[in-house]
Amino acid sequence: MSRFESVVTQLASVLVGGTGIVYAVMRYVLEPADEWSVVNHPWQPHVQHLHVLTAPLLVFAVGLMWTTHVRPSLRRAGRRGRATGLGLLVSFVPMVVSGGLIQTAVDPTWRSVWIGLHLASSAMWLLAWVAHPVWLRWLGVQSDRSSTSLSDPVSGP
Ligand code: HEM
Ligand code: HEM
Repeated sequence: MSRFESVVTQLASVLVGGTGIVYAVMRYVLEPADEWSVVNHPWQPHVQHLHVLTAPLLVFAVGLMWTTHVRPSLRRAGRRGRATGLGLLVSFVPMVVSGGLIQTAVDPTWRSVWIGLHLASSAMWLLAWVAHPVWLRWLGVQSDRSSTSLSDPVSGP
């Protein structure tokens, strides 16, 4: 994985995850300032737009890392980073698909289903995203941008 790929992925995760968390707080935690308001905070529509506009960057970042990081890591004999890496992969697909389905759902029940799936999968993505580098650092694994060998197999997340 090159430094460029790492920076793009981390930046995309911060932008998409950050706007998603702020939007969640505005939607589910805050109360509207006046009873006629359709939003809970004046910035809510802007945060929603930022979330939808930055989301493709994360899809692009994972696509960029697919051949250089994800596939080689899955094929490698050692098990370092496997559980948290798989957590990222498994949560990624439903997170992206449900984001699109929220926007196209017409039936309110289905819309609630896709919102629930989106919230659950994005929470899993964020947990795995924090755990992936933290766990690797704890194991003493250096990024493959450095010269440290990853060849000796160690089990763990
Ligand atoms: C990384 C963590 C993410 C978090 C915490 C997050 C959070 C949220 C939240 C709270 C909503 C509002 C749900 C509602 O309407 O009640 C939402 C909507 C949405 N998200 Fe995410 N999301 C994340 C990642 C993504 C990704 C990766 C994509 C697409 C590639 C995406 C695309 C969307 C779309 C299209 C909507 C619908 C916006 C609308 O029309 O209201 N999100 N997200
Ligand atoms: C969408 C999926 C994935 C993403 C976004 C991702 C992201 C990352 C990032 C950003 C780093 C650099 C951490 C740092 O240097 O601070 C990293 C390192 C690492 N990841 Fe992943 N990863 C994914 C999947 C996987 C999988 C499936 C595995 C294992 C089967 C894995 C194993 C590793 C290992 C061993 C390292 C440290 C050495 C290296 O840089 O290759 N990752 N990952």
